[in-house]
Amino acid sequence: MFISDHPLIKHKLTILRDRNTGTKEFKELIEEVAMLLCYEATRNLQLKEIEVETPLEGTKGFTLYGRDLAVVSILRAGEGMVGGILNLIPTAKVGHIGLYRDPKTLKPVEYYCKLPNDISEREVVVVDPMLATGGSAIEAISHIKARGAKQVKFVCIIAAPEGVAALERMHPDVEIYTASLDSSLNSHGYITPGLGDAGDRIFGTK
Ligand code: PRP
Ligand code: URA
Repeated sequence: MFISDHPLIKHKLTILRDRNTGTKEFKELIEEVAMLLCYEATRNLQLKEIEVETPLEGTKGFTLYGRDLAVVSILRAGEGMVGGILNLIPTAKVGHIGLYRDPKTLKPVEYYCKLPNDISEREVVVVDPMLATGGSAIEAISHIKARGAKQVKFVCIIAAPEGVAALERMHPDVEIYTASLDSSLNSHGYITPGLGDAGDRIFGTK
């Protein structure tokens, strides 16, 4: 697991945690932190050497080479992260998996799934701000793998130890990138100290 210690991420995450941060700023910061985490999650992308002509002379350069990317957002809160990733990789295709947690069982319930047709050929970055029990991420990644994807990463803003353990158990090949590993889950399955309900804070529904 990669836990960022970047000062910009720590600063922005603190504003995200603050209960007084409003919807507009919250939404912008989720996108910004997603972009900064995506920068780390794409460190391993392959390059091939090419020649480039500057206005002065020819020189060696690099271009991305290898599998194209797909971003898969777990609805609805994951949608808040997609723009940040596309800022860095505008050619990535975008898939959506709609899951909500049953408030009693905390188990994910699927209501939508639309993935790029060629997802099996792509490196996949799954995004959701919160990794709590891990149920939603595990379910989404199982779907993506069932469609043939072999290289999958999971990027979240905050992870709980319970979710990390569950995700690593079910999908040991999936690397997790996060801005913070928080203390624990409360009895309602919320991450503490966390940032509250990510979907509600992104979309202003509470
Ligand atoms: C939140 C969050 C994750 C999930 C995490 O979504 O965005 O998808 O909970 O919890 P888990 O790790 O225990 O599965 P929620 O179910 O609140 O739906 P929403 O995004 O539509 O608000
Ligand atoms: N989903 C959220 O939005 N927040 C949590 O703390 C846990 C699950």
